[in-house]
Amino acid sequence: MKRIGILTAGGDTPALNAAIHGAVVRANQLRIEIYGLIKGFNCLLNPRVPHVHLNPLFQEIPELDPTKGGTLIGSSRDYIDPDKKAELDLISSRMSKLGIEGLIAIGGDGTLNALQPLAERLPTVLAPKTIDNDLGLNYPSEPDEWIRVKDPNSSHGYTYERTPSNAAFDLNQIVNYATPGYATAVLVTAQGVERIRTTAESHRRIAIVEVMGRHSGYIALGTAYGQPDIILIPEHPLDMGLIVERVKHLYALQKNVVIVCGEGVVDEHGNELGAESTSSDPAGNVALTGAAEALRGKIVNELGDRYFQLYRRGSSAREAIFTRKVGHTQRGGRPILFDRFHAALLGAKAVDLLAEGRNNAVSVLQYNAQKGFHVEGYDANRFRDRWGLIHARQMHPSFYDPQLMKPSKIGIDYLLPIFTDAIGHDDAEHMRQTLFDPGNLAQPYHSINTDVHKRIHYLEADGREPQD
Ligand code: F6P
Repeated sequence: MKRIGILTAGGDTPALNAAIHGAVVRANQLRIEIYGLIKGFNCLLNPRVPHVHLNPLFQEIPELDPTKGGTLIGSSRDYIDPDKKAELDLISSRMSKLGIEGLIAIGGDGTLNALQPLAERLPTVLAPKTIDNDLGLNYPSEPDEWIRVKDPNSSHGYTYERTPSNAAFDLNQIVNYATPGYATAVLVTAQGVERIRTTAESHRRIAIVEVMGRHSGYIALGTAYGQPDIILIPEHPLDMGLIVERVKHLYALQKNVVIVCGEGVVDEHGNELGAESTSSDPAGNVALTGAAEALRGKIVNELGDRYFQLYRRGSSAREAIFTRKVGHTQRGGRPILFDRFHAALLGAKAVDLLAEGRNNAVSVLQYNAQKGFHVEGYDANRFRDRWGLIHARQMHPSFYDPQLMKPSKIGIDYLLPIFTDAIGHDDAEHMRQTLFDPGNLAQPYHSINTDVHKRIHYLEADGREPQD
């Protein structure tokens, strides 16, 4: 293999540049050229195929900084429609005109679904990333548990449901233990909880902090490091009676409560509290918003103003309970050591898999007590259900204690290997040296996009102003 392409797809995560960097370093060693395809799958749909040579003369370009968040080659939520055969033909011919013999996509479950139609025309490998930590399997047989049910209201004519598991759960069996981006997102949410606590404490308020993760509660679970009082996750329906009882107990004791709520939490009927909006993601992923506000409404109704007047003289339930979304800061900024290091290994492994001829594979991050973290290759088909669809991984329900509303013992065991040494000395030092640099006040922000734009090449020069 002489030349490969690499793209980043879906929502950005902190360790994308680190994964690209790992791939480029490995490609240099193997004397493989590597082209960065601009703006994810959008690049393949564009006849001009904007691209950047990431390792001219087998040296990585200086703009590729593994410690920077975001992605220097851009990302999008554009995907390829497997039914559009003519479009797929065009993509193959564009790739072959560019001399690209294999493709690495850095992404999550949506990206892996989108790679499938391409894998029949060009060797493809996925290097995982997602702050949601939902690309993976709790155990290898998990995809077999999905069944599909006819549903005329669904866009594809079917909805997918889980049947009960007959696998004994074991942390050592997890496929892709953690995804790059997850640890940095949890750093942000745990710090957010620590910071909001002081306001809740000082003003005797109840804070509900909404964190991302879609239908998976990993980010909410990891936010336990910030010591919230209650954690609510999508995998266990809310028990409002228990929540209100715990809130009252804690409020009487400490006069403040901090609740962390995953954006995908559901009520006792399985209905999401937040609103859903659809995306073009082929995994059927949706954007969720408003869970914390809906939960606030429920707690306000249950407690009523009188309850707060007893403790806070003159205040109403609406004043006492407030919500904050951590939002996209979870996805942004400098990746911490755990994410950088493992993203780089996964990017490098993706190059190895292509070079070894492992088409339609995924580089995965495995963990066991004997070997610690290590990377392996895994066939993409083993992530698929019997109809070929990849489902976002939900957190194993045993990670959560629904009575305590906190991580269970096994949940803690799951988190420890990821987070114990996740922050590097340089992460703390970086903040000390850069945040209050006087130059930041005087100089405007310089975007990586400005530098990379100067390096973009196009497949077809048609005299138009370049549009990346
Ligand atoms: O999948 C990552 C994620 O950040 C989810 O946690 C969240 O629901 C979604 O993306 C938000 O998407 P967008 O950035 O398109 O609003």
